[in-house]
Amino acid sequence: MSFKRIILNETSYFGPGARSVIPEEIKRRGYSKVFVVTDKELVKHKVADAVLTLLSGASLPYEVYDNVKPNPTIANVQTGVAAFKASAADVIVAIGGGSPIDTAKAIGIIANNPEFSDVKSLEGVAPTKQKTVPIIAVPTTAGTASEVTINYVITDEDSVKKMVCVDPNDIPILAVVDPELMVSMPKGLTAATGLDALTHAIEGYLTKGAWEMSDMFEIKAMELIAKHLEKAVQEPANMEARSGMALAQYIAGMGFSNVGLGIVHSMAHPLGAFYDTPHGVANALLLPFVMEFNASACLEKYRDIARALGVKGTESMSPQEAADAAINEVKRMAVSIGIPKSLRDIQVKEEDLPKLAEAAFKDVCTPGNPKQVSVQDLLAIYRTAF
Ligand SMILES: NC(=O)c1ccc[n+]([C@@H]2O[C@H](COP(=O)([O-])OP(=O)(O)OC[C@H]3O[C@@H](n4cnc5c(N)ncnc54)[C@H](O)[C@@H]3O)[C@@H](O)[C@H]2O)c1
Ligand SMILES: [Fe+2]
Repeated sequence: MSFKRIILNETSYFGPGARSVIPEEIKRRGYSKVFVVTDKELVKHKVADAVLTLLSGASLPYEVYDNVKPNPTIANVQTGVAAFKASAADVIVAIGGGSPIDTAKAIGIIANNPEFSDVKSLEGVAPTKQKTVPIIAVPTTAGTASEVTINYVITDEDSVKKMVCVDPNDIPILAVVDPELMVSMPKGLTAATGLDALTHAIEGYLTKGAWEMSDMFEIKAMELIAKHLEKAVQEPANMEARSGMALAQYIAGMGFSNVGLGIVHSMAHPLGAFYDTPHGVANALLLPFVMEFNASACLEKYRDIARALGVKGTESMSPQEAADAAINEVKRMAVSIGIPKSLRDIQVKEEDLPKLAEAAFKDVCTPGNPKQVSVQDLLAIYRTAF
């Protein structure tokens, strides 16, 4: 018999300025030295500083590891493991978008499960025995929800592939979701990461494993994104909109982490591996095309999506009309926040499409898609999006 399972992180704080709790939480738990995982841009733009000054102010010693690129690589993880060991730290603070938080998870898992030092063996559902080194995750984008998910994604450059790693042992002990750290996101990043969160909510709602508990999270996330995303893009310093998106992406993560996703993510991952396309941009562009493909498998759920996104009069629509309304609302939102319209616009090469379709078919997210897909189906969707 199979049971439903839900895994969430232990403690989370939300709201402008929430980062101020970090030193006390570290001391209360008895940790003595911090290994900070972040990236060079966040150091350069002083986003990491907003947390580092708190550590210094509380006389907590720390070392910074910032060798993390967007779509982080196996090398980013392995040099991070070596730096972590040399630091003699006992807690990790991950400051950043999904890339630094995912890298921190891989570092923390390998530090306590050294038999997985090759990183590649962590792909899929990894049979690690020990929990990660304790991680405090501090997101600076509103998209991936890595602070509350049991997943992390690392690029294997040799095989040109993004490895999705699923492991309950990787979950951060503490998430600090402070929208003040997201204000510096440029418009394009706010838009792309926000549509990553919307993709999590929609795919998490339509995926085969979805159930009452995950539905509850995904519908709420869609409502919040509909209310706050466009404002967060138009008015970067609007704290209500930033707070709304910070919460929305987290709630979407509480759901999808436990039930899986679908082929928007399967198709986005190869774009990241082949062209280093930012994850949010890849998802944002593909989402409406995949929604069109999947509609016939779950028409009635599209009515719920349309309603959650704020479309009026969904009750009197036919199932097909309601599905079209949901898809059109997603398209409208993407256009209004400036998401590129075609794969051609983001320098994807037409001759690569068959290889991308092969890679997407093998992705960990594909079995969760509500509609059965073949390599040919995936190729057809890529061609339409091209
Ligand atoms: N763990 C999960 O469950 C999960 C879910 C979805 C995606 N992912 C993965 O997460 C990665 C994407 O993460 P992301 O979209 O958050 O972006 P990211 O972490 O890759 O960051 C993208 C860029 O934005 C910059 N940036 C981040 N925050 C900023 C801020 N506040 N101000 C200015 N610049 C800022 C970074 O320095 C970086 O240059 C991908 O590798 C993706 O596959 C993981
Ligand atoms: Fe995602």
